[in-house]
Amino acid sequence: MSSNRELIDRFKEKRATAMVGGGEKRIEAQHEKGKLTARERLQTLFDEGSFVEHQTYVTSRSTDFGMDTKRFMGDGVVTGAGKVDGRQVFVGAQDFTVLGGSLGEMQAERIAQAQELALKTGCPYIAVNDSGGARIQEGVLSLHGYGKIFRNNTLASGVVPQFSVILGPCAGGAVYSPAITDFIFMVDQVSNMYITGPDVIKTVTGEEISHAELGGAAAHCRKSGVAHFQFATEADCMAFIRRLLSYLPANNREQPPVVPNGDPVDRPTPGIMTTLPDDEKQPYDVRDIINEFADTDSFIEVHEGYAKNVVVGFARMAGRTIGIFANQPKVFAAALNIDASDKAARFIRFCDSFNIPIVSLADVPGFLPGVAQEHGGIIRHGAKILYAIAEATVPKIALIIRKAYGGAFISMASKALGYDRVISFPTSQIAVMGAEGAANIIFRKDIKEADDPAAKRTEKIDEFKETVMNPFIAAGYGYVDDIIDPEYTRAELIRSLEMVSRKREELPAKKHGNIPL
Ligand code: HXC
Repeated sequence: MSSNRELIDRFKEKRATAMVGGGEKRIEAQHEKGKLTARERLQTLFDEGSFVEHQTYVTSRSTDFGMDTKRFMGDGVVTGAGKVDGRQVFVGAQDFTVLGGSLGEMQAERIAQAQELALKTGCPYIAVNDSGGARIQEGVLSLHGYGKIFRNNTLASGVVPQFSVILGPCAGGAVYSPAITDFIFMVDQVSNMYITGPDVIKTVTGEEISHAELGGAAAHCRKSGVAHFQFATEADCMAFIRRLLSYLPANNREQPPVVPNGDPVDRPTPGIMTTLPDDEKQPYDVRDIINEFADTDSFIEVHEGYAKNVVVGFARMAGRTIGIFANQPKVFAAALNIDASDKAARFIRFCDSFNIPIVSLADVPGFLPGVAQEHGGIIRHGAKILYAIAEATVPKIALIIRKAYGGAFISMASKALGYDRVISFPTSQIAVMGAEGAANIIFRKDIKEADDPAAKRTEKIDEFKETVMNPFIAAGYGYVDDIIDPEYTRAELIRSLEMVSRKREELPAKKHGNIPL
């Protein structure tokens, strides 16, 4: 019979073996690829010494294809909970050193249990993906495991924040777990996501493309919009995740943390008038306006590289998290298109799920005209913004900066859609359409019959601008609550947010709505 000492030594040995996953050689190979191991990654993510592993000794039960000789403790994933700034977060980090991080029955079970604990305890869940996908030898058991993970992702959606950090391959159906989660993070030269890789594509369609071009960080953060954040290194990625978590509540029943940074609430914002050009046709970068009124250095942009005609992101006002949804005149004159609608609607729904008040900044001529947009379904996609704003029950403040025309006005700033408070700069223009278009329609006869049609047209455009487009008309109907001096934007927005901060709104009882997808 073994002595206690021997049992403890055996335990220590076993534990040490578990801690090196697929072994030193595989760890070396992982480092040679410029990647950290799952455990190293968790060290950079969590507060020092805070990680508690769950189910360390789980192994595969598979025996087919010699799998009984390839058993590794942990089965290719490290799951458990650690702390970020003292707040608990659950994690499932795939370990590529074990069978390429491939997902079999028991790995899936570990991940599913970590997800379930996150859900039960109301803590964010972070998946670190680095895997060859479904473990081929385990067949349907792997597929069943993915199904379970996808369902857990879906059940947790809107209850706890879910992040997917792609730090290696994420191929085949495996991509759908990240796709269901709230935010996807990718690292240059490290991350790849695709349904079918370059080889399959070459066979099926004849197209030739590299892994990175097909599914790398730039492809998904800039072209497909699948991923939200792109980084140069894993360390930058993990540091950012820690920062992003500080803006979010742990779950949908909590409020986001309040983190004042000493920026005075009544700090004047003279830079806004410097940013805003006198010529209404001149573009500007709406991020300069956001950075002027938000708490110093608090703005973090989401989906920065994709659909740049809208800017969405988190900031703090007097220490409280807000979600910003802004038109970006620098790109397509801020016209809303299919991609921008998808980007904005998903962000708005995230904010609404997690009790984050929404501040919209309107300067938009309308939805982007064009056959490609119409045939691509701008009607269906644009409707997502209307739907997302209309059903959001968090406080919603709109600030009209300049143009707010047509359906885009309704999306960005209409009280009828449910904005709780609408404020406007004196520079704003609110109308069904721009003055040129309007004059061409309603004064067509006057212009045509005039001795000097061009002069008449200019006169009518000016008349339309003066009489119809100024914010006092909308304010006269109560559709704009206040017209503010841009110099006091920060103070006015903070006062507005405070005014509606205790808002309680219930939607009609239903199973769920049917957002146009
Ligand atoms: C079992 C796998 C595996 C998998 C990799 N390995 N993927 N084992 N099932 N899916 C093993 C390899 O055999 C190898 O084991 C070890 O992991 C490391 O893999 P390498 O190929 O040496 O690494 P690398 O050269 O870096 O290439 C990584 C890779 C490649 C690009 C991910 O391994 C690959 O293409 N794997 C297959 C990807 C794939 O098609 N997966 C199925 C997708 S379909 P040894 O012991 O030889 O070192 C899918 C369906 C899910 O996932 C559906 C859910 C709904």
